[in-house]
Amino acid sequence: MKISIRIRGLRKAAILIAFVAVCSLSIAQQKSAIILNSKKISTDLFGLFFEDINYAADGGLYAEQVQNRSFEYNPTERKEWHPLSYWEYITTGFSYGRISIETNNPVHANNPHYIVLDVEHIGKEEKFTGVSGVGIKNFGFEGMIVKANDRYNFAMHTRQLSKEPVSFTITLQTPQGKIIAETKLTTSSVAWKKYTAVLTANQSHDTAQLVILANTKGKTAIDVVSLFPEKTFRNRPNGLRTDLAQLLANMKPSFIRFPGGCLVHGDGLGNMYRWKNTIGPIEERKAQRNIWGYHQTTGIGYFEYFQFCEDIGAKPLPVLPAAVSCQNSGGTWRIGGTGQRALPMEEMQEYIQEVLDLIEWANGPVTSTWGAKRAAAGHPAPFNLEYVGIGNEDKITTEFEQRFKMIHDAVEAKYPNIILVGTSGPFHSGEDFDKGWAVANQLKVDVIDEHYYVQPEWLISNQYRYDAYNRKASKVYLGEYASWGNKLSNAIAEALYMTGLERNGDIVSMASYAPLLAKDKFTQWKTDMIFFNNNSYYLTPNYHVQKMFSANAGDYYVDKVISKNNADSLLAASCVYNSKTGDIILKLVNGGTAVQKFQINLASFQKLIPAATLTQLVGIGTAENSFINSTAIAPVTSTFNISKKFNYETPAMSLTVIRIKTK
Ligand code: AHR
Repeated sequence: MKISIRIRGLRKAAILIAFVAVCSLSIAQQKSAIILNSKKISTDLFGLFFEDINYAADGGLYAEQVQNRSFEYNPTERKEWHPLSYWEYITTGFSYGRISIETNNPVHANNPHYIVLDVEHIGKEEKFTGVSGVGIKNFGFEGMIVKANDRYNFAMHTRQLSKEPVSFTITLQTPQGKIIAETKLTTSSVAWKKYTAVLTANQSHDTAQLVILANTKGKTAIDVVSLFPEKTFRNRPNGLRTDLAQLLANMKPSFIRFPGGCLVHGDGLGNMYRWKNTIGPIEERKAQRNIWGYHQTTGIGYFEYFQFCEDIGAKPLPVLPAAVSCQNSGGTWRIGGTGQRALPMEEMQEYIQEVLDLIEWANGPVTSTWGAKRAAAGHPAPFNLEYVGIGNEDKITTEFEQRFKMIHDAVEAKYPNIILVGTSGPFHSGEDFDKGWAVANQLKVDVIDEHYYVQPEWLISNQYRYDAYNRKASKVYLGEYASWGNKLSNAIAEALYMTGLERNGDIVSMASYAPLLAKDKFTQWKTDMIFFNNNSYYLTPNYHVQKMFSANAGDYYVDKVISKNNADSLLAASCVYNSKTGDIILKLVNGGTAVQKFQINLASFQKLIPAATLTQLVGIGTAENSFINSTAIAPVTSTFNISKKFNYETPAMSLTVIRIKTK
């Protein structure tokens, strides 16, 4: 009896050992199969490019509703602008007084202008039944969006200039003067003081106005008048519009590049984007002319950019000027871009320190000078900055090269782990492109930023561009690219090109479509990814393509899985494996006019779950979305049963993403 039990026990053990061996064999086989036909690719491949162009930040993603909140608008930004633009002086109930714009003893040196409201008389005529007063009204960015029962955080800084305190009624009103929300406050300080109040709306309105009405005699200085919805993205103070921020989060971008674009190097040296001007309390930030012809409050500043990246799990990619201004400064693009100016050499040490300070601000301990400032802003933990960009499609002149090298060498020496991104001009080829790459090769720059806006045909005929790139040279960041247009055919050409980016994900380490956001009627760039107005938006086919790639990224490119007619340049495909989720992702692009077959062979994968997810973007090539028809082109997702080997027929003008689970 005992013997037979022992034998049965031994058999069980033997079966167990055999089972474990088979299992481990299959895992090993699966791993080796992946390694056999695959290569590791960048885990940061698809991200976002954010620039305050097209009112993307102020009047856009930034949830501030007051326009010209600090009375800093001026004619250098737009000829007709002045400190009272978007404000109106108002008197009610036969009251009177006066206003002036002053600069003496401002709320902060960076914020020099403020308004003085001097109330001489508050009318008390019997025939007037409303609230008498003297004040100012703000029109917002074409009106303010107010939703019934929502709460709005109002703030303003005042300095009481009269002996007696001044009482204010703060209201949100319709353009016809109907009060939607109301609160009151009274000044209590002869020094600058910030007052806050909550306004709760009793009805919804799309073009509300903010009215600040003094109801008592007296004189007050007023500055930094602000109105934010209480609901911002992740409820961050000084935060972002929830709907637009969520659209970006939905893309699951691996990184966000900011703050531009041309906004980085600026229109002349005085217009370069200096990150230190954009942190700290908003009243201490330095607003400046936006190179795209309007005003930057810098309300979305470096802290907000980093915070947003963290909130959506994207790596920050700040781009700093290479100490030269845009070559097109002063509109010199008309005569060939001769407007580049360089910081004088005697200012370079200070400038280099500014770059190094950014890294300390982002990553340094709270005990460091700049880490302490980050902590004071509410973020004691480091932001784990990995990438820093230097320069934006600059003209590669001797002045540029000298300064770029100085910054590069200083960052390398102090922060060798920071991945530095250089620049190679505004085009896919040509003098600046070649010179930019020569600089990169000479200095062994980690990554080099390429930019090109092209016709869709260019993307189709250059889809193998990176197959021929030197694997030992700098890696590529395709920092700005797009085909000229927001039709489905443009987006499909981009999809086709993006399969090439995945195939070359060993050397193309990042890519971002540009520009990202565009406010309806306020655009400076023709083709953009998301169009919005104050309370709605529509997504372009280009957005859908970008999202279908970025939300379906992998870290291995797997070859020999998909076969197609290679002679047809309008067909492209890629297969990636995501080792975190264990998912295999197939992307099939058909840019032609007929149905086309792809053959899929998943034999190298041991285990496959038959029920896969299929997402498809398809339509007529000329189709576009709009505010009226925002979903003319939109992806559709369904369940799709796969087997080890199967054929898939793609419809004309389509991108199909098949996501297959292996566990
Ligand atoms: O994306 C719009 C602009 O195009 C960027 O600001 C600039 O870098 C490029 O020329």
